Amino acid sequence: MVHIGQLVLSLLPFSLGNQELLGSTLLKSEHAAITGSVATKSIAIVGAGSGGLAALKSILDLPEEVRAGWEVELYEQRRDVGGVWLPDPPGELPDPPELPETPLYPLLHTNTPHPTMTYPHFTFPPGTSLFPSWEHLWRYHVDYADHFDLWPHIHLNHTLVSAEWRGDNTTGKWEIEVHAQVASGSWTEDKVIQRTFDHLVVANGHNHYPYIPTWNGTDAWLANTPPGAPSREILHSIYYRYPEKYTNRTVVIVGAGASARDAVLQVGPLARTAYQSLSEGSEPPPDAQVIIKPHISHFTNDSIVFIDGSSLTDVDSLILGTGYEFRVPFLSPPFSSVLTSDAHTPYNSTTAPSLITNLRYIFPLHRQIFSLAPTLPSTALAFVGLPVLIANAPSDIAQSLFVAHALANASLLPPRDAMLRELVAHEDLLRGKGLDPYHVGHRLLGGDTEAQDYQDNLVEYLKKHGAIPDDGEKYVEQWRRAGRTLSRLLARGWKRVEDLDEQARWLDGVETEDEWAQLMERLAAWQEEWEKEHGESASPYA
Ligand SMILES: Cc1cc2nc3c(=O)[nH]c(=O)nc-3n(C[C@H](O)[C@H](O)[C@H](O)COP(=O)(O)OP(=O)(O)OC[C@H]3O[C@@H](n4cnc5c(N)ncnc54)[C@H](O)[C@@H]3O)c2cc1C
Ligand SMILES: *[C@@H]1O[C@H](CO)[C@@H](O)[C@H](O)[C@H]1NC(C)=O
Ligand SMILES: *[C@@H]1O[C@H](CO)[C@@H](O)[C@H](O)[C@H]1NC(C)=O
Ligand SMILES: *[C@@H]1O[C@H](CO)[C@@H](O)[C@H](O)[C@H]1NC(C)=O
Ligand SMILES: *[C@@H]1O[C@H](CO)[C@@H](O)[C@H](O)[C@H]1NC(C)=O
Ligand SMILES: *[C@@H]1O[C@H](CO)[C@@H](O)[C@H](O)[C@H]1NC(C)=O
Ligand SMILES: *[C@@H]1O[C@H](CO)[C@@H](O)[C@H](O)[C@H]1NC(C)=O
Ligand SMILES: *[C@@H]1O[C@H](CO)[C@@H](O)[C@H](O)[C@H]1NC(C)=O
Repeated sequence: MVHIGQLVLSLLPFSLGNQELLGSTLLKSEHAAITGSVATKSIAIVGAGSGGLAALKSILDLPEEVRAGWEVELYEQRRDVGGVWLPDPPGELPDPPELPETPLYPLLHTNTPHPTMTYPHFTFPPGTSLFPSWEHLWRYHVDYADHFDLWPHIHLNHTLVSAEWRGDNTTGKWEIEVHAQVASGSWTEDKVIQRTFDHLVVANGHNHYPYIPTWNGTDAWLANTPPGAPSREILHSIYYRYPEKYTNRTVVIVGAGASARDAVLQVGPLARTAYQSLSEGSEPPPDAQVIIKPHISHFTNDSIVFIDGSSLTDVDSLILGTGYEFRVPFLSPPFSSVLTSDAHTPYNSTTAPSLITNLRYIFPLHRQIFSLAPTLPSTALAFVGLPVLIANAPSDIAQSLFVAHALANASLLPPRDAMLRELVAHEDLLRGKGLDPYHVGHRLLGGDTEAQDYQDNLVEYLKKHGAIPDDGEKYVEQWRRAGRTLSRLLARGWKRVEDLDEQARWLDGVETEDEWAQLMERLAAWQEEWEKEHGESASPYA
């Protein structure tokens, strides 16, 4: 295997591309292409969703003289860019435990207004509905790759299988293995690529490994479908596609997050009866056609028993909107020893012997980005896209600017012990608010202030240290802050616009970032006025 991989390496198109890039400046390029070590710095990015594209663009945006001689390769395992917004490939959805490539379902619309979801200064096309369907989001990512000429660096159908650090905490290289399926004419060729990189930027997304709670008695319940009824099933929302499947079934939807909300709104009207199992204090979406239940306690062979002692005997299906785990298989055993996965880890940020994920939180990281594992130099491994409860694209860019400039100049980062102290101080701050940082994980709590301040602080840091010019402006524009905070009001307003069939009138002449911002402002005011008189309406979006 090793030998095949090394042979393939010298024939890869991107090795040649690299040689071309450097040919004019480096006389040694011919020799270098054979050894594969021509670049002054080599960076591998994993994933071509919002995060990976942001990382790639931000690195390419560094001044020409700074990134001269750098090699940047982005590996994406799927057939196109777009991450979660790229639909399933044609064919059957896999059965558990095999996982689908995306949680995307055909009826998905964003639950946040798209102007708040943009990369800075790259708007959605004129006429795009304020809460667009997934097709627009996918297209947006493709357009971004087109517009900024990212494709020469992107390798589709390339799965990063393992990344092992060969070195210590001062120097070393990543040894990676990539499995590729490359179309050539009417057939596809399987390739194994083994090579080294100086830096690894991980943007593999966090909606791919479902968190599936376990209860006593599920096996007996599943095995005991009553005669004539549809086969009992318990499926995580990552497998949810069409609400019609649940027509005339009795369904329990577990959870209160975005996935559970959508399932409730779509399945509720079709189901014979729909229940939503929620934590105390959570509520179903307004106008939802569901009966509220508390948490599930356990199953018997003919019923689901809830923690209040009540039970249901006629349930056919459960949809688990129970969220996702933070996993990075290619950094974890048996493929690599960089990241330890342990839901009940005895370690904390100060004592961790390696990078650790308790499946909610990857630690220790500097500002949710750079690994502070004692086994790696600080700029060896970066994550883009970990924060949750944040508008991804702008946050991805703020993080990616930070990554790009730190890769260009590692001295921009404080010494490791100082970064660790900063992290521990942040964790203490959360504890001071009564929160467990290892449970909160990457969720930026405290409403949008925290999420926005997080991005502002990253960019402020770069300005303060002279890496980028200080224009005196906050990174997150005022209209973005407002748009995110007013998401739900805007969703209700947009629903009313659609009911009145007035989309075209509202969208007419709206093209620039400022015009989208003004549209949100007008809509919020219009809806607020109406709600003063009529109260809140329901919305399918938020
Ligand atoms: C159903 C759903 C609805 C959402 N709706 C909204 C919304 O309305 N508003 C909002 O702001 N956010 C929403 N989000 C959040 C959404 O996840 C982010 O907006 C963003 O698209 C995430 O981008 P990402 O790049 O971090 O991850 P992803 O989009 O998951 O991209 C990660 C990419 O990495 C690739 N990859 C992973 N492992 C490997 C490997 N080993 N080798 C090669 N490639 C690999 C994957 O194939 C994937 O393409 C939603 C998420 C989901 C799941
Ligand atoms: C990726 O694989 C798909 C099939 O899964 C194929 O249709 C497509 O052409 C491949 N793309 C590339 C760039 O090889
Ligand atoms: C599951 O059932 C076993 C045996 O009946 C019992 O010992 C255990 O406590 C139960 N676990 C939970 C989580 O209820
Ligand atoms: C719904 O299910 C009930 C009971 O299983 C059955 O009697 C009825 O015909 C079904 N209705 C539809 C529309 O399938
Ligand atoms: C279901 O459980 C009950 C009570 O534990 C038992 O009497 C019955 O035989 C079980 N039925 C099946 C089909 O397992
Ligand atoms: C981490 O764990 C060690 C050992 O259990 C403990 O002494 C230390 O106070 C902990 N640090 C933090 C920041 O929680
Ligand atoms: C680097 O690793 C050595 C052990 O190999 C350890 O003693 C040292 O503290 C580490 N330094 C940093 C900055 O992590
Ligand atoms: C790298 O960053 C350090 C710390 O901010 C700064 O002093 C130094 O001038 C920078 N080097 C370059 C080449 O920009």
